[in-house]
Amino acid sequence: MVALKNFPGASGGNTLDETLFGLIADDLVNQGYSIRPGALPEDISSSLYAHRLELNNSKYTDAGIGRGVDFLRTEFVRTDEICWINGESDAGRKWVEWNARLQRFLNKKLFLGLFSFESHFAHYSPGAYYKRHYDAFRGEANRVLSVITYLNPAWLPTDGGELVIYNDDKDRDGIKVVPLYGTLVIFLSEEFPHEVLPSSRDRHSVAGWFRVNTSINNKIDPPR
Ligand code: OGA
Ligand code: MN
Repeated sequence: MVALKNFPGASGGNTLDETLFGLIADDLVNQGYSIRPGALPEDISSSLYAHRLELNNSKYTDAGIGRGVDFLRTEFVRTDEICWINGESDAGRKWVEWNARLQRFLNKKLFLGLFSFESHFAHYSPGAYYKRHYDAFRGEANRVLSVITYLNPAWLPTDGGELVIYNDDKDRDGIKVVPLYGTLVIFLSEEFPHEVLPSSRDRHSVAGWFRVNTSINNKIDPPR
């Protein structure tokens, strides 16, 4: 695992946000991921939840792998549908702003160099899945930190749909996360293979990624 170092005193903030951000930073340093049930501030969860209910199903498109000309629609890997968040809605703005505060905190505290953020709603119909994958590939300097939250009140263990985070390529057991409303999951994108197991209910999540700035020779990345 990459060695992250926590610099004590790099931030002296004492807001509610910063208490949570501090716990997330410690988790990232100690284990490379953070799983925090019920941690997303309730007003953000409830806004996202309400907005998701309003989102017309037609706003969702089949998820694929890659972007632009590399986009592949491949049912073998994932069968969820997604809707990108562009900050046009109050809910989207609140979520993006919360992530911007997390970004500033982690950059100050861990020198992560997080530069840009992108995120989308995802809908998994009953039986839908996302097979074991990485959000980023080492050395490609793209996504460095993944952030996920869930919009499923009263999710039961028997409903399935767990996110399974594996420690490395050899790990077959993994850590299972129940996709319950308000839970936050944050992990280093290049370090942890993970998958979404099929569920018996409709499963709603919001997933986001921070990238580092890899602009070189006037080639602007990420492409928009
Ligand atoms: C993803 C992903 C996990 C989840 O969208 O890349 O791994 O629990 N999502 O929804
Ligand atoms: Mn993923």
